[in-house]
Amino acid sequence: MEIIEKAPAKINLSLDVLYKREDGFHELEMVMTTVDLADRIALKSLPEDQIVIRTTNGVLPLDRRNHAFQAAKLIKETFAIETGVEITIEKKIPIAAGLAGGSSDAAATLRGLNRLWDLNLTLEEVAELGSKVGSDVPYCVHGGTAFVSGRGEKVEPIGEMPQCWVVLVKPRVGVSTGSVFSVLSFDTVTHPDTAGMVAAIKAKDYAKMTQKVGNLLEEVTIARHPDIERVKEKMLKFGADAALMSGSGPTIFALCDKYSRAQRVYNGLKGFCDEVYLVRTLK
Ligand code: C5P
Repeated sequence: MEIIEKAPAKINLSLDVLYKREDGFHELEMVMTTVDLADRIALKSLPEDQIVIRTTNGVLPLDRRNHAFQAAKLIKETFAIETGVEITIEKKIPIAAGLAGGSSDAAATLRGLNRLWDLNLTLEEVAELGSKVGSDVPYCVHGGTAFVSGRGEKVEPIGEMPQCWVVLVKPRVGVSTGSVFSVLSFDTVTHPDTAGMVAAIKAKDYAKMTQKVGNLLEEVTIARHPDIERVKEKMLKFGADAALMSGSGPTIFALCDKYSRAQRVYNGLKGFCDEVYLVRTLK
C-alpha cells in the first residue's frame, strides 16, 4: 500500500518574538498561512525495520538530518513499530528558505504514517508528536490560516484569509533559523501588530491585512543579506500590495489581489532572481 500526502509551504504574514525563554527557545506570536507550492510525500511499508528516504532533490540529506526521517523514527519508537517505511520526497519547496519545507515534510510524514500504520491518532496528537521534531511542525500538521504562539506548538485556526496571489522570491543564500535567533537584540526591533493581523483576517479585510504584515526577524536577516530589501522594493514598485520576508528568511513574498498585478511582479522579479514562483494562498 502507498500513502500520498501533500506538504505545502507556509508563509508568515506576521512574526513577533516576545522574549527569550529559559529553555533557550523564543516565545513567539505569529500568523501563518499555506500556499500552493508543495512537496509530495509517498509512504510505502517495508517488511524490514528500517527507514529509507528517496528524493528527487540531490542536496537533501537522506539520514537523521532529514526532518521526514526524524518524524518516522519518532513515530516508530513511540509506538514500537517493528516494520519499516520507504519515504519518497518529491521536492518543490526551496530548502533553508523560511517556507517550512522540512517541517512540512515532517508533518506530512506523521499524518501519513498515522494512516499507514492505523494508529488512529487525532490531528492534535499528531501535532503534539510533531513539536518534538521542530517548532513549525505542529502548525504544518494542521495547515490553514492560524495564530501560532508559544514555541510554535499552540495553533489556533482563525478562519480563511481572503484568497490572493503570492509571488515568492528565494535569493540564492540559505539561512539557518538558529543563527538568526541567536543574534536577535530586543533593543533595536519594532514589533509587528500580530493582533491587528488576526483581526484583519477575521474581518476578511484584505486591504487591512496588507497594512499589517510584519516580521521582527527581517531586520536581522536583511543586515546579513541586503538583497532582501532590494527585492522588497522591486516587488512594491511592480505593484505588489505588500512585501515581506517569511520566517527567518531569506524568501520574500509579495501579496497581490489581482492576477495581472501578480504576473507583473513575477515577470519583474524573474529577471532579477532565478528562483521566483507565482502561487495562490490555500483555503
Ligand atoms: O525548532 P526548530 O529546530 O525548527 O528551531 C530551529 C532553531 O530556531 C532552534 O534551535 C532555536 O535556536 C530557534 N528557535 C527559537 N525559538 C523558537 C523556534 C526556534 O529560538 N520558538
